[in-house]
Amino acid sequence: MRSSRQKRTNCQILREPKRLRVILLHEVSSAGAADLSVKIGAVRLRNPILAASGTFGYGLEFAHLVDLNHLGGFVTKGLSREPIEGAPAPRLHPTPSGMLNAVGLQNVGVRAFVAEKLPVLRKFDTAVIANVFGYALEDYVEVIRVLEDAEGLAGYELNISCPNVKRGGMQFGSDPSLAAEVVSAARKAAKRPLWVKLSPLVTDIGLIARAAEEAGADALTVANTYPAMAIDFHTGKSRLGNKTGGLSGPAIKPITLRLVWEARKAVKAPVIGLGGIETVEDVLDYLAIGASAVQVGTASFADPRASERLLKALTKVLFEAKAFTLNEIRDKFLAENS
Ligand SMILES: Cc1cc2nc3c(=O)[nH]c(=O)nc-3n(C[C@H](O)[C@H](O)[C@H](O)COP(=O)(O)O)c2cc1C
Repeated sequence: MRSSRQKRTNCQILREPKRLRVILLHEVSSAGAADLSVKIGAVRLRNPILAASGTFGYGLEFAHLVDLNHLGGFVTKGLSREPIEGAPAPRLHPTPSGMLNAVGLQNVGVRAFVAEKLPVLRKFDTAVIANVFGYALEDYVEVIRVLEDAEGLAGYELNISCPNVKRGGMQFGSDPSLAAEVVSAARKAAKRPLWVKLSPLVTDIGLIARAAEEAGADALTVANTYPAMAIDFHTGKSRLGNKTGGLSGPAIKPITLRLVWEARKAVKAPVIGLGGIETVEDVLDYLAIGASAVQVGTASFADPRASERLLKALTKVLFEAKAFTLNEIRDKFLAENS
């Protein structure tokens, strides 16, 4: 039963629709003014949600499904000096709570990207980050040299989870001095902001993160996929044409979350977190732990609109929490755990 006091209040509200509307409008417009923008070094992003490299093509393939102008930005497929046809099929294999891929870094090559993709991408108002890889220092430098002459990029993301063929195939990202070498070569070649995407396959990610920062990285992206494999014991064959591949998706989230935390403690540069993000809670976990922005990868395979969906959900969370900035959410975790 309602109390007479409550009845009175409800009646008053009914009699005061104008006042109520003013209050609601005030709430809505304040939430609308919530500032989702983030700064990653010199790059200002509209919001902290980007689509991840290799899972969003060159962006254009998604433009009829996702409003690219709404995203914080996206990272292109990895670009190499020459076009690469990629690995034999099968290239993807679903695993419990994740996915294996062995695409073999298939791409059109940096020159075709500049000639055919970038002119169309320039029509969108979003941060386009070019993911760059190679098998020797000179490859990285050459890809960046070609991109430097082109307009329309917000920065570069260096994929250092690649074997250095001149050092017996040891991954650039697996050793602080190799990482520093490739980052400093790229730094000299690049005028644009340089993000370095770390490999998760390391003993101490803090050491690699620090080496990359000291060599000139403006931000660190943590992390790439985890080397893994799946076989069919009936046939005795691997489930992937390339035999081994990279594990991604929700299965890797807790492991990567720790890597982001460790990297965050080791450097001053901003850290961009990714690995297994599917829900807005995943986004908030990464932001709370200190990531300045996040990337959405495998989730775009199941739902090509995942990044835009997560952005809407994030806006709603802030609205409901009456928070005006992302820091209000982040500070809570850091205060508890720093
Ligand atoms: C099919 C596929 C292709 C990928 N290609 C690249 C790539 O070209 N360069 C790169 O740095 N990372 C690449 N990645 C790694 C993702 O960007 C991301 O780091 C990883 O999948 C973890 O995030 P997720 O769990 O949200 O997918 C690829 C991942 C997948 C699934």
